[in-house]
Amino acid sequence: MSTNPSAEETAPYGSGAAGNAPAKPVKKVRTHHLREMKQRGEKITMLTSYDMYSAQIFDEAGVDLLLVGDSASNNVLGNETSLPVTVDELLPLTRAVSRSVKRAMVVGDLPFGSYQASPEQGYLTAVRFMKEAGAHCVKLEGGAEMAPVIKKLTEGGIPVIAHIGFTPQSEHVLGGYRVQGRGDNSDRIIDDAKAVQEAGSFAVVMEMVPGDVAAQITKELDIPTIGIGAGPDCDGQVLVWQDAFGMRSGKMARFVKQYADVKSVLSEGAEAYISDVKGSTFPGPEHTF
Ligand code: KIV
Repeated sequence: MSTNPSAEETAPYGSGAAGNAPAKPVKKVRTHHLREMKQRGEKITMLTSYDMYSAQIFDEAGVDLLLVGDSASNNVLGNETSLPVTVDELLPLTRAVSRSVKRAMVVGDLPFGSYQASPEQGYLTAVRFMKEAGAHCVKLEGGAEMAPVIKKLTEGGIPVIAHIGFTPQSEHVLGGYRVQGRGDNSDRIIDDAKAVQEAGSFAVVMEMVPGDVAAQITKELDIPTIGIGAGPDCDGQVLVWQDAFGMRSGKMARFVKQYADVKSVLSEGAEAYISDVKGSTFPGPEHTF
């Protein structure tokens, strides 16, 4: 069997196209496509996904990266924060997503405690996401202090997305959910961004970083930046799908835009079903053998 990638797979994003639209759709999103998108100013899209159907829907819609985030902890598994989720809980969700996509790059998210102890621990955890769950790359939280872990993973064949700014796994050290890098602290975030690029990350998520700082970082880095609460000048954007499509109600972070109201659709469907069953109008003759 040939190991050469197909012509479609190797076609660069957008070469020869007018504006920022891709010239030719790529078969599978690869790290070099994302860098090429940055170079030509084509925005990158990322959403979370934790199951087969959302993965298929977002993949078919053309989302570039699907993140099986540790946010599954508080969006799927019923926890209050992302801290309790384990590797063993995230692996089957990641596997479901990677089995369900054709084009999107699937990002496994290393949970709290699974990589901070040492580069070796990080490598062994990341290998599980790649081998057992079919992830195409992994994401981990932290800046300059994570450089040795990022280096170990990339040298060992695992592409890494770093996550800087507000890092939810460290909420107790950071003093809660707060914007990072304001005023004098902007230097630290900028240094973190440069350190993770230098260590080998192929992209960096920036969470809750002032827009002007995120814009400066985006300009100074060669690798793509993907923002969540980091303003419009990042190379791409990421949102948790349950927030973006209204699977839940209640207070949302300021950076969330709600594009759909899935909760209302499901509630109305459930109420109509209850009413039909209670009123003996379902099942009808057409549903009966
Ligand atoms: O786990 C997650 O959903 C994330 C995003 C907020 C980037 O890390």
